[in-house]
Amino acid sequence: MKVMSVVGARPQLVKLAPMAEALTAAGHEHLIVHTGQHYDADLSDVFFDGLGIPEPDVHLGAGSGSHGAQTGAVLAGLDPVLEHTRPDRVLVYGDTNSTLAGALAAVKLGLPVAHLEAGLRSFNRRMPEEHNRVLTDHCADLLLAPTEEAVRHLAAEGLAERTRLVGDVMVDVCLRVRDQVAGAQVRGLPEDVNPRETYLLATLHRAENTDDPERLAALIGALAALPYPVALMAHPRLVDRAERQGLKLQQGAIRVGRPLPYAAMVGAVLGSAGVVTDSGGLQKEAYLLGRVCTTLRTETEWPETMAGGWNRLVADPHRLSAAEWSEIALRPAPEGSRGEPYGDGRAAARAAAALTEEM
Ligand code: UD1
Repeated sequence: MKVMSVVGARPQLVKLAPMAEALTAAGHEHLIVHTGQHYDADLSDVFFDGLGIPEPDVHLGAGSGSHGAQTGAVLAGLDPVLEHTRPDRVLVYGDTNSTLAGALAAVKLGLPVAHLEAGLRSFNRRMPEEHNRVLTDHCADLLLAPTEEAVRHLAAEGLAERTRLVGDVMVDVCLRVRDQVAGAQVRGLPEDVNPRETYLLATLHRAENTDDPERLAALIGALAALPYPVALMAHPRLVDRAERQGLKLQQGAIRVGRPLPYAAMVGAVLGSAGVVTDSGGLQKEAYLLGRVCTTLRTETEWPETMAGGWNRLVADPHRLSAAEWSEIALRPAPEGSRGEPYGDGRAAARAAAALTEEM
């Protein structure tokens, strides 16, 4: 069977790695279309190299733009590719503009669409990712859900029949890479962070945190006020918005670095005293790797990470006293087992099987 993966942004490349392997192992012909939503080497090439993903068969070069322009560029670019190759299944990943455009382009040509990481909800209608998830789920033919919570969300929207619980493919890749980097030196942190001393690992890139100048300044101020070095691995969106707003990222405790390749990120999480982030993937990686996470948002699509206090939501750290804030960000790891709410690390094989058996 001919399966086409449509990917374009960093978190999708991480999920593509185990899927590419599982699809090939299942005997499928696998084509990869890179939409070009992410084009910087730090956000794209290093994932292909580092995770051993085959080169994309097609590159659309859509690039950045407003949501409408970016989604539209991917949609228009995909049309002739899909017409020409007529895949048996189109597989879209996650919740980015590339996800929605991939699903729409396929469904309009009558091609069967599967959505990996279906059913996540923040119930925050201001997030572009929330529009992308809901719309993609409703136009896809097969919904590959990572968690029981996601299955429940899909059932509540009348989509139970198309839903299959396969587990989370991020577990497949995260645990494998953890075993590869175990014991290795932490690489890629900003030069002025000593990986053998206490540090926090931070990322910040969500539109709701970066695009409002007052909010961004407040969040950066809160990170800067922490009592230990904060390795801020800065996404280009953060760098761009800070520059436009005349805000200096390197201040107080903050040491600025570049986005990390996957294995280096896993190593940096393992070496840290905790993670502070607004990324969905990193919240879960911290959980899987046994590090506390503080999430700079009002809600999470991964509520399982909150059990036992492994993850905590702190939308407005600048409203806390300095002592309260640092006590939260540097809290010790909870005791007791975390269980396996994201599956057993074999989600990609199940997803690959579902593409043939369930569609
Ligand atoms: C996108 C996803 C988000 C995901 C994130 C992971 C959407 C709506 N958002 O956000 O869900 O968590 O990817 O990283 O799809 N830029 C560069 N180089 C690049 C790519 C982007 O400099 O290679 C800068 C540009 O200033 C661009 C901005 O980042 O305007 C935003 O990029 P975009 O792809 O629109 O969204 P992300 O913020 O990366």
